Amino acid sequence: MDYQIALLSGDGIGPEITEASVSVLEKTGALFGHSFHFKPYLIGGNAIDACGEPLPQETVSGCLASDSVLLGAVGGPKWDDLPGDRRPEKALLGIRAALGLYTNLRPAKLFPALRGASPLRADLIANGFDILIVRELTGGIYFGDRGYRNGRYGEEAFDTESYSVTEIERIGRAAFEAAMQRNRRLVSVDKANVLETSRLWRKTMHMLAESYPEVQYRDLFVDNAAMQLVRDPRQFDVIVTSNMFGDILSDEASQLTGSIGMLASASLGDSKRGLYEPIHGSAPDIAGKNLANPVAAILSGAMMLRYSFGLNREADAIESAVNTVLEQGFRTADLVGVSCIEPVSCTEMTAQILNALSSAE
Ligand code: IPM
Ligand code: MN
Repeated sequence: MDYQIALLSGDGIGPEITEASVSVLEKTGALFGHSFHFKPYLIGGNAIDACGEPLPQETVSGCLASDSVLLGAVGGPKWDDLPGDRRPEKALLGIRAALGLYTNLRPAKLFPALRGASPLRADLIANGFDILIVRELTGGIYFGDRGYRNGRYGEEAFDTESYSVTEIERIGRAAFEAAMQRNRRLVSVDKANVLETSRLWRKTMHMLAESYPEVQYRDLFVDNAAMQLVRDPRQFDVIVTSNMFGDILSDEASQLTGSIGMLASASLGDSKRGLYEPIHGSAPDIAGKNLANPVAAILSGAMMLRYSFGLNREADAIESAVNTVLEQGFRTADLVGVSCIEPVSCTEMTAQILNALSSAE
């Protein structure tokens, strides 16, 4: 089969890591008999530089015309002083919304070889952990009214959060369905002791829970959830939460796997077309130095094969190649920590993964 993929490399380390992911997808295609065609589009800071806006219409149309979208990362110090609605990050929110991608899946799974890279005590992670964070992606405070006004103490800024029953229901359903495919345990994270949106969230989740009697359901306040994640991540299977809480908890969970450079994500809506990107940012401090960890981008490519194209064997092959290379002891700088392992570069890590892919066949 032929697949058309829009390639949004973005800024900072974005181009290096998407290049790695593209080479792994191409190799996988060659091994399994598929053709992946990549068409590049501008997004973020490079789009601002080239045409004055972070999300050109051509990029949106290109994504809409493709079977799926692979994205690197956006943003950097060069564009940090622009007003909020012209910043590179605005493009990311814009493309998620334009493609209707309200479900963001962020799997945080510990590769056995990386136990030593996790900050958690060995006994807690002896048998690993495998968490799927389901983050609502097109609503909440990220998309609410915001601005400046005159307040009690003079000029003030404000952001607002709103969630409709419809938005909560659709993300809730995605999470219950995901739980049904896994270990049937779901934790919904909110701040229902303070926020009205969270009270509606919780009420809606409870209604949905009645249609999923096989799923063991529980609520946690977000402060408690943040603590429980580091206290004992094994208690979690699927976590469903709002846009902002999901942003924060997924960074926390990623570190438990050794590095944020390991975490992939899939953003999905009602069609097969998804957007696949690492959860990390553009890391301007290491951009262009061939130091970045390409694994999150490579695993995002695997998620594309699984969720958009239904190519499960192919996705398995990529994930197991990553596992093999980690078992062989290869580590990028972010994973080395205090050990005395000599880190490999982004391109070297990618070459090892490509190699493991072909030898597995
Ligand atoms: C993420 C990122 C983005 C977000 C930023 C860059 C807008 O942190 O994908 O987690 O907050 O969603
Ligand atoms: Mn984030």
